[in-house]
Amino acid sequence: MNGKFVSKYIDLHAHLDGSITVEILKKLAEIQQLELPVATDAELEKLITVSENCQSLNEFLQCFELPGKYMQTEIGIREAVKLVLANMAAGGVVYAEIRFAPQLHTFRGLTQEEVIQAALAGLKEASIPANLILCCMRGDDNAAQNKETVELAKKYLVADGGVVAVDLAGAEALFPNEGFRELLQAAHEAGIPLTIHSGEAGGPENVESAIEMGALRVGHGVRIAGNDRIMQLVKEKGITLEMAPTSNRQTKTVVDMKAEYPLKQFLQYGLKVTINTDDMAVEGTTLADEFRYIEREFGITPEEEKRMLGNAVAAAFTSEARKEELRKVLAL
Ligand code: ADE
Ligand code: ZN
Repeated sequence: MNGKFVSKYIDLHAHLDGSITVEILKKLAEIQQLELPVATDAELEKLITVSENCQSLNEFLQCFELPGKYMQTEIGIREAVKLVLANMAAGGVVYAEIRFAPQLHTFRGLTQEEVIQAALAGLKEASIPANLILCCMRGDDNAAQNKETVELAKKYLVADGGVVAVDLAGAEALFPNEGFRELLQAAHEAGIPLTIHSGEAGGPENVESAIEMGALRVGHGVRIAGNDRIMQLVKEKGITLEMAPTSNRQTKTVVDMKAEYPLKQFLQYGLKVTINTDDMAVEGTTLADEFRYIEREFGITPEEEKRMLGNAVAAAFTSEARKEELRKVLAL
């Protein structure tokens, strides 16, 4: 084995509401003069982190309710973006893409556009270079909100330093990709880069449809393992997979990680894999922890880590100038 394990990272897949730690939550409550539902850090921790007996993505997604309540104002959203990025910077992250669904921050009267502007204000004060990905949400009663999110992504789209892409998040098994084809294809045709959560709680057919809709990246994609046709498609099209091991373990996407997690298999197949946190506070992890975990559990080498960081730079929704700078910072 040559070289050293990496100690600087890129996170392409981090949800804002899943990255609110106890410390951040307390600050958000304080600056907005909002009550917290429990008195101690330990009790708060219990409310915002997933329990070991979580059985599914649907159950996992219930952990986002509490942090969401503290991000319904301009200052709450701005500070959340700033504090999450400060946490990431302290953990060695040199570039991040933060994703959130504007429609989930409108419960106290903000418009989706005001939510985006608040997040952009947070980005301006960030400790590391970062960009925003706007999530549409899976569901059957929010088509108008999703359409508005795509329209706003079009309006605010930049090459770097702002909104750079659209995603589709939420309960994949309940609401498969097919129901969002028109929405996402329109986004793609409008020139908005797409990443779509697929092959996480749903099957490989969702990865195939995500690619048809124009996705350049896929969130997770683990369920294509063993499906040679779709693995070949992902390879041929040069699609980047945003993998998040601890998230996949906790949502029971993969039950026996050691035996079944397809990270090595994907790397050996030549797929463009990246490692990400997904929801670091809910999961109780950091990106550095994820890298140490894959070293221990799957014997990932420093060379493979560098390759994955190179994949992350190449697939980042940012400018060529930023990518050049990141390659230098990461010594790639
Ligand atoms: N929102 C937050 N985490 C998510 C995940 N892992 N899958 C889908 N939607 C999410
Ligand atoms: Zn996710």
